[in-house]
Amino acid sequence: MTTRRKKIYEGKAKILYEGPEPGTLVQYFKDDATAFNGEKKAQLEGKGVINNRISEFVMTRLTQIGVQNHFIKRLSLREQLIREVEIIPLEVVCRNVVAGSMAKRFNLPEGQQLPRSIIEFYYKNDEMGDPMITEEHITAFNWATTQEIDDILAMTLRVNDFLCGMFAAVGITLVDFKIEFGRLFEGEFARVILADEISPDSCRLWDTQSGEKLDKDRFRRDLGDVIESYTEVAKRLGIMKDMPRVIEGGAQ
Ligand SMILES: Nc1ncnc2c1ncn2[C@@H]1O[C@H](COP(=O)(O)OP(=O)(O)OP(=O)(O)O)[C@@H](O)[C@H]1O
Ligand SMILES: [Mg+2]
Repeated sequence: MTTRRKKIYEGKAKILYEGPEPGTLVQYFKDDATAFNGEKKAQLEGKGVINNRISEFVMTRLTQIGVQNHFIKRLSLREQLIREVEIIPLEVVCRNVVAGSMAKRFNLPEGQQLPRSIIEFYYKNDEMGDPMITEEHITAFNWATTQEIDDILAMTLRVNDFLCGMFAAVGITLVDFKIEFGRLFEGEFARVILADEISPDSCRLWDTQSGEKLDKDRFRRDLGDVIESYTEVAKRLGIMKDMPRVIEGGAQ
């Protein structure tokens, strides 16, 4: 199916194809896993299928609570139809618990609860290694306006509140996550909406009881059972029903 579409962009985890109508794209989820800015690579059979389904689930629910996003509909096991946006070159990270680079930067123990949710901005640029930036850089370099930053901050907090509750209900702690935003043009006016994906590739998810990691850190840190953990997340969210044979490698 995908062979007939025109490829627009191939990233590390996904491919964007021209959509059926102007202003739409098809987002194809690959099994490729990368970490440390592409230095570490592997194929994790079935990952794309699971992430496509989890991102669909999350984006659909975010639409229901009024958080506008690019998701239109899932087309197949690995493809979803999305609205094309002009990506704002920011990786927006929201943290509830200390982990990863924050633990390193401030010499804090992983797992320490933060007194409040913290939002960080990184400039989306692989060559520079996605450096951390402030709102000053964002406006000075015209990556986004102050109004857009306000919208991004408000939407990120809503996404965080929603995801925290959704995961807490199934015994998972949302430690942190990364999201991307883009501009949707309606004539002169550009509206900021949520884009890209929300999946165990872009979130830190810990089993609340055991503290077990159920996200991409299993790959980054060679903990094993990556697909099993992603599958566990999907199972707990109640979305494994239409994903037969993913772990066995039967999913195309
Ligand atoms: N709705 C959208 N419209 C246009 N581009 C999008 C949309 N949603 C996501 N993207 C972009 O599509 C690409 C998805 O591919 P992938 O996540 O594999 O990229 P990547 O390897 O992480 O590289 P990048 O540094 O470009 O994000 C990203 O560049 C992302 O910003
Ligand atoms: Mg990406």
